[in-house]
Amino acid sequence: MKRLNGKTALITGAARGIGLAFAKAYIREGAQVVLGDIDIARARTEATALGDAAFAVEMDVTCQDSIDAAVAASVAHFGQIDILINNAAIFTAAPIIEITRADYARCFEINVAGALFTMQAVARHMIERGGGGKIINMASQAGRRGEGLVAVYCASKAAIISLTQSAGLDLIRHGINVNAIAPGVVDGEHWDGVDAFFAKYEGKEPGQKKREVGAGVPFGRMGVAEDLTGMAVFLASSEADYIVAQTYNVDGGQWMS
Ligand SMILES: NC(=O)c1ccc[n+]([C@@H]2O[C@H](COP(=O)([O-])OP(=O)(O)OC[C@H]3O[C@@H](n4cnc5c(N)ncnc54)[C@H](O)[C@@H]3O)[C@@H](O)[C@H]2O)c1
Repeated sequence: MKRLNGKTALITGAARGIGLAFAKAYIREGAQVVLGDIDIARARTEATALGDAAFAVEMDVTCQDSIDAAVAASVAHFGQIDILINNAAIFTAAPIIEITRADYARCFEINVAGALFTMQAVARHMIERGGGGKIINMASQAGRRGEGLVAVYCASKAAIISLTQSAGLDLIRHGINVNAIAPGVVDGEHWDGVDAFFAKYEGKEPGQKKREVGAGVPFGRMGVAEDLTGMAVFLASSEADYIVAQTYNVDGGQWMS
């Protein structure tokens, strides 16, 4: 028995990485998936490869018109949205004395406002339609504690954990479960960028930071996107109906809370 039969999910930032792995896992579980991404060319290529259960929409989560249009296009194509994963985000890093307002604003616009106002738009649709829904926000171990060179990204992910708590408490009366996943270090293009930041600020060789963080994970290696799909399927399924406003660490044992 597939666990997401008949459900439709909108996943932001699904053209690559963790969002794309979630899309594939959801389709395996019987769902239809909208791949929302600012990189529409890549989202379309991936959606085409996934077949009729996938649909790509251009979506910039920093732009309200774009969010509203993506929600409308999702509903027009598949008839409804039962599940939202707020996955789109960017990484940024700099020493405190080098952080710029522009960098801070861009990170918070995408990572925090993008997630909040996409959640709002989809929650409005779910409430109007009735029948509840599931919203999953992508937090991070970076939201559990600060890091010397990563203040802005860490703060954005702490905000996601807090928003998940508030939205979870507000929306459960409509039958909408809001929860979050906090990954640790997951290899992929995102971490290629992280590695490059640390190469710049800590004088490391390319690839060195990845090797170091992988060795530091109690499980013994960096994560891969597929390590997170079990939790993403579970939180979207009816098995998670009684779970409200929580953030789950899926990180190979890096953080305990
Ligand atoms: N990779 C990790 O180690 C890690 C760890 C903890 C948390 N996370 C979180 O998991 C999520 C996915 O991470 P990932 O590694 O797959 O990242 P990624 O950088 O590989 O993918 C992010 C996707 O978001 C899209 N995107 C960027 N800006 C956008 C915008 N304005 N509107 C719509 N889409 C936009 C990108 O085009 C890209 O497809 C993110 O929220 C990230 O913060 C990742």
